[in-house]
Formats: sequence, C-alpha cells, structure tokens
Amino acid sequence: MKFSNSNLAVLGALSSLAGGSRGIVSAFVATPSTALSSSSAAAAIASGGLRAKKRGEGYGPPLDNIGEAVGNTPLVKVSDRICPPGRTIYAKCEYFNPLSSVKDRLALAIIEAAEKDGTLKPGQTVVEATSGNTGIAVAMMCAQRGYPCVITMAEPFSVERRKLMRMLGAKVIVTPKAGKGTGMVAKAAELAEKHGWFLCHQFETDANWKFHYDTTVSCGHMLSFLYVVRIAYLMLLVICTYVFFGKGPEICNDLNSVGMKLDYWVTGYGTGGTFHGAGKYIKEKSPDTKIILAEPGAASLIGSGIKTERNADGSPVGSHPAFAPHPIQGWTPDFIPLVLEKGLDQSLQDEMVIIPDGAAVSMAQSLARNEGILTGISGGATMWAAVETAKEAPEGSVLVAMLPDTGERYLSTPLFASIEADMNEAELEIARSTPSFILEPVTA
Ligand SMILES: Cc1ncc(COP(=O)(O)O)c(C=O)c1O
Repeated sequence: MKFSNSNLAVLGALSSLAGGSRGIVSAFVATPSTALSSSSAAAAIASGGLRAKKRGEGYGPPLDNIGEAVGNTPLVKVSDRICPPGRTIYAKCEYFNPLSSVKDRLALAIIEAAEKDGTLKPGQTVVEATSGNTGIAVAMMCAQRGYPCVITMAEPFSVERRKLMRMLGAKVIVTPKAGKGTGMVAKAAELAEKHGWFLCHQFETDANWKFHYDTTVSCGHMLSFLYVVRIAYLMLLVICTYVFFGKGPEICNDLNSVGMKLDYWVTGYGTGGTFHGAGKYIKEKSPDTKIILAEPGAASLIGSGIKTERNADGSPVGSHPAFAPHPIQGWTPDFIPLVLEKGLDQSLQDEMVIIPDGAAVSMAQSLARNEGILTGISGGATMWAAVETAKEAPEGSVLVAMLPDTGERYLSTPLFASIEADMNEAELEIARSTPSFILEPVTA
C-alpha cells in the first residue's frame, strides 16, 4: 500500500492527540511505510529523518505493573565498523526488557498462561530450572504477582545471576556442575513433584514459543492502550494502524515501518522458544526471509543429527553425546529441548552456523567498544553469525541478529576476564598528569 504525505500528516496528528504508545506511535513517527524501497528508506535514515519517538514525548500511559514493560525492544543499526559494506545489520536489543533479557517474555507468557488455565493457584510456589535469565525473569514475575519462587541452577552459571534472583526474593538451589543442564532440570521436576509446586517447563511448554510468535516481540501494549483516557482517538489510531500497517510481531512491524524487507534473521537457541516462535511467524509472513540458526562449535547438537530421547513429559532422558561445556551461557543445554525440536521439525531454519571458540566473546567486546551495544556472550555469538552471513549475502541485504541479554550479567565470566578493576599504566599516566588526588598503586 502506498502512502501520501497527507495520509502521514493525519496519522501523525492522531498519534500526538492520542498521547502515544511506544510500539504504535513509533510506527507513525517513521517515514511512510510500504511505499519506500529499501534504498529510499536507507536514504531517509541517512538524512536523519526517522527513528525513535521524540525526546520528551514520554513512554506512553503509566504502566500498571512491571510485566507491562515486557517486549517492544528496539532494532539498532550496527555501523560499518562491524557490518560488511553494502549490507545492513540490525541488532534486536532484548536487553531493553525490564530485567534485561529475552526471557522476560517467556516468564510473562508462562505465568499468564498458567494463571489462565488454572494450573497455577494463588500463592502456589513456582519452580524452574534455568541458566539464569529465565530465573531472573520468573523471579520478577513472581515478585510482582505474589508467588514464592524457587530456582534450580547449575554451578557454572555466573554468580551475579544467582544474586539477582535472590535480590528479587527467589530461593536459588545450586546444582552440581557434573549434573550439567539435565541435572538442574531433573532437580526442579523432583522438587515440584515432592512439594506440589508449579513447574514452568520452559524447555517443553508451548507457551514459550507461542509468546514469541505473537510478539518478538509484537504489539503487546495494544490492549492496555485501548483503556487510556483519550480512548476515542486511540480507537481511531488503532484502526488506522491495522488498515495501513497490519498487525504482527515487532521485527516485521519495525522494518515495515521504514519499507524494509527482512532478508536474514539470525538467532541461537537455549530452549528454542525464540527460534521456534519468532521463526514460525517470520516464515509465515515473509517466506523469502532466510533463518540462520547458530550453535557453539563445542556443542553442535543439531549438527550431530542425534535426537534427544524423552520422558513422557518431554524432558530429556539424559545428556546428549555431542555436548561439551561451552562458554555461550544461555545457549545449547546438554539436550535438545522439545520446544526447539518442534521448530526444527517444521524446517524453519535455512542454514546452520557453527560458532568457533573465542568468536562470541570477541564480538561481544567489539560491539561494546565500537557501537556502545553492551550484550552478553550469546549476543556476541549471534552477531558473529550475522556478520559471517552478511559477508556472503547479496549486496543490499538486511539482516537482524537477536541479542538476548545485557553484558552486565557477565561480570564474573570470560567476557570480562580481560577488563581490569584497577588502573592500568595509561590510566595512571592520566591520573599523574595533574597534581591532585593521585591514587598510586600499593606495591607489596
Ligand atoms: C543469554 C541467552 N541467550 C540466548 C537464549 C536463548 O533463548 P531461547 O530460550 O528463546 O532459545 C537464552 C535463553 O536461555 C539466554 O539466556
């Protein structure tokens, strides 16, 4: 559908009258959508004509609770310091979620689905096995809704994750390293069975991928949006949104709003929820988009072609033979989760990329230093896969790489191993270049 400038002026006026909502208003602030070709959109971007809501405009109506802040994360362009020439890579920055990871979506989805179907009772304890981000997100939702929360987590995952969960009121049961991911999953199931707790089943539940299908992240604010004060204008705005832009998940909406087409979507997997849910949506709405799925070289479970044997509830019977410990926390547990397998069975992936040793950490560091984009090791791995894909992609290709979480979650991991807490020689030289307040290192 083509847009005239007068269409846009009307829409812009309506949006400012309505007071705005993050997802929807940003679509209107943007240049005309589907009429733009990729190159004219690129030209508009280059001239500074697009982008976020105006500063000072506000977030939108006040939120009722922190869960409402989940989703609607931004796409951020990666500069040519990292992106190969003639291609465009956007980072989908999931660290904009309230507890700074993609897993906020999952926790919200699981808790809301279980409240709705009655499997989670008021005041019941919620238990889950997690490499950290899910636990933090589940702890947030439990804190907000008044459920006691118990998390099982294997020893090797970063200690800052444990502390964050405890800060949010959860109890953290650390499981031995030797038991790997399957150990922490079995422990959570055992505790749920023994105490009658609600087990989230992030690796098996359909609520996981379905939320990514509906969002990843989509117009989740639309419903609350309809209840705000200037409802008449908002209704009109929403109708216009449907008529002119269509409805659907965030990545597609955001690219459509500047007339761009998604050529490649790049992700890794933990549970496989992001890959399965968002991948299914993308394939349905944009069949030409290529989906690139990445996994660590040390744990190429999919690449091995060996299936995971399952218990009746879909959980793994044992550890996968192709698994070896790897540094990409949150990716690739020692089994193929059911949620992932159901996505693989639909052949959603077009290509697999294997991440070599060291590539994830060095790309995450490069994103921080060159772009100011502070993501974790898995974000570095995904961006590495996106850059490698871009090198081979036709000129003009648009790629989106999922950055699952923030780099701050990795202060005690190899991501920060080369970052000193004390001043180095260069910093000391600066300190000594003026006379006052010089903190000289203590020599033994
Ligand atoms: C840091 C990190 N990266 C990536 C993922 C993968 O997300 P998903 O579970 O949707 O596959 C996770 C999830 O565990 C994660 O914690």
